[in-house]
Amino acid sequence: MSEQSQPKTIGILKTPNDPRVCLLPKEVKRLTGELALNILFEPGLGSSLQIDDEEYLEAGATCQSRELIFKNSDTIVSINHTFSEVEMKGGCCFIGIFNPLFHDSKLAIYQKHGATVYSLDLLPRTTLAQSMDVLSSMASLAGYRAVIKASEIYNGVFPMFTTAAGTLTPVKILVLGAGVAGLQAIATARRLGAIVEAFDVRKSAGEEVRSLGATFIEVEGYTESSNAGGYAVEQSEEYQRKQKELIHNHIKTANIVISTANIPGRKAPLLIETRSVEAMQPGSVIIDLAAEQGGNCELSKNKETINHNGVTILGNSSLSAEIPAAASKLLSNNYFSFLKYKQKAENQENDPLLSASQIINAGEWAHPHFIKQLQPA
Ligand code: NAI
Repeated sequence: MSEQSQPKTIGILKTPNDPRVCLLPKEVKRLTGELALNILFEPGLGSSLQIDDEEYLEAGATCQSRELIFKNSDTIVSINHTFSEVEMKGGCCFIGIFNPLFHDSKLAIYQKHGATVYSLDLLPRTTLAQSMDVLSSMASLAGYRAVIKASEIYNGVFPMFTTAAGTLTPVKILVLGAGVAGLQAIATARRLGAIVEAFDVRKSAGEEVRSLGATFIEVEGYTESSNAGGYAVEQSEEYQRKQKELIHNHIKTANIVISTANIPGRKAPLLIETRSVEAMQPGSVIIDLAAEQGGNCELSKNKETINHNGVTILGNSSLSAEIPAAASKLLSNNYFSFLKYKQKAENQENDPLLSASQIINAGEWAHPHFIKQLQPA
């Protein structure tokens, strides 16, 4: 990591088609004050959240055109890839949530232009990185939003209703993957009175699932890896077969399925087969939060809602963008924490968080995933 001089000017870009904003005026004020950084922002940066340019100006930032931001910034922050090749300036540092293990071709453009790139979704899930953990922030909101979204699509009620005209039974929800998003989905569904079952390959998730009042479904024979940093690893074929069978039996009786299962750097595990969807009652709903990584449901299409035999299947991995004020508040704190940490890091070269999140250093691939790809087979 040869990047010696600290960034003095940070440009904040709008992300087209995404109403979330990565830095809000409150954190910009801390960047210009506490960290003495120059902050440039694009006109209308906060317009999707009804935040006027005036508020950013009052926080000490300067409004400039996109072109000037590229010209004058040492570092450019955004939610994800928002720039074209013509805008790229050699030597600039880019910070965002780039999902690098799935977007190799876009990253090659930064590399070609000698840029430095940090992707916050690569930060380790450790206590030290907790305040910068964009994955947890967005997953938590996505889990919540998935349940709200499902409740809007589903044509029944969530809690049990006992009325003079009869009793309505509570909805039955199956949550697949009990990580950050899954646990938040369980908590939200339980608050609304649903009966919830959940499945995760990690046995340790069972205790958390049960503590939220849901039933944990288990499959014997899971393989764990102490090198996976708390993440799940790919399972044996025998385990996957048993798992599919068990899930199929539980899906048949569920009204709503919320799937969140992921394995970092891999295609999402296929958990919901077409035969399982076809065994569900018409009117049932599947929300697939793993759609961008290929989906947990065989029929999911990313960023689309489809209907299969009366079952609605919504594939969307960015549901946090549908509650942009909440998402931006969390992101702004995450980005601020990272910029502050980066500014204060004494040894950039060996820092555990900076080296884990750096993909490209001044045009050289810095992340093991990409360095490995360069090795001859
Ligand atoms: P993720 O988004 O990578 O995956 C979601 C869930 O899917 C995980 O719980 C995973 O075990 C599960 N999964 C993977 N394959 C599956 C399969 N075939 N069937 C069913 N479930 C499957 O995970 P997330 O939510 O980002 O969390 C990853 C880990 O990081 C968890 O252990 C979590 O507790 C930990 N973590 C630690 C933090 C810290 O500060 N120490 C902060 C946030 C998360």
